[in-house]
Amino acid sequence: MSNVVWQNYQVSRTDREQQNGHQARVLWFTGLSGAGKSTIANALEQELVRRGIHSYLLDGDNVRHGLCADLGFSEADRTENLRRVGAVAGLMLDAGLVVLSAFISPYRAQRDKIRQSLPEGKFLEIYVATSLDVCEQRDVKGLYKKARQGEISHFTGISDPYEPPQQPDLVLDTAALSIEQSVAALITLLQQQGVIR
Ligand code: PPS
Repeated sequence: MSNVVWQNYQVSRTDREQQNGHQARVLWFTGLSGAGKSTIANALEQELVRRGIHSYLLDGDNVRHGLCADLGFSEADRTENLRRVGAVAGLMLDAGLVVLSAFISPYRAQRDKIRQSLPEGKFLEIYVATSLDVCEQRDVKGLYKKARQGEISHFTGISDPYEPPQQPDLVLDTAALSIEQSVAALITLLQQQGVIR
């Protein structure tokens, strides 16, 4: 980038982590629409707040009302959506937070790019692996029905691809696990990672 020079901050992420009393991480929830990404991330955030952990939840539906309101669901728009939210997650990581990011993020390359943009070991990939059948049966927002009827184009799992993670840090299938069990598995992961006690 020409004529723009990076400015070093005098307060580091490590300083902020020390002040907060816990490490920072990005927990990247990926999975189909209706898989349970937002539900699990919301429940986890409540538990983190209860434990005094500084966290923030970035959610696809909400971000698309503001920061990414100009974007749709073509591959190029999804890539730009994830470039922006990846950058925001990176800033929040630097601020010392446990960032919960809930986006379909259907392309492996998009997720890998975000992982690579963050400091080593700070990105945890959480695959919410609820099957298409179950997501479609639930159809909480009625979007699968519309997609099947051709009223929504580029719908993930129906008329657009979803590439599952190859080596996720955690797999959660909400057809088999309660919300409490998923949250417990995430807390265990954060403890194993040394993020929280
Ligand atoms: S992406 O692929 O990561 O850029 O998508 P994301 O920002 O997470 O937004 C997904 C939510 O948008 C709604 N929606 C669609 N999803 C997938 N495909 C199409 N075509 C589409 N149109 C609208 C849907 O409510 C998604 O929310 P979730 O929470 O995943 O169900």
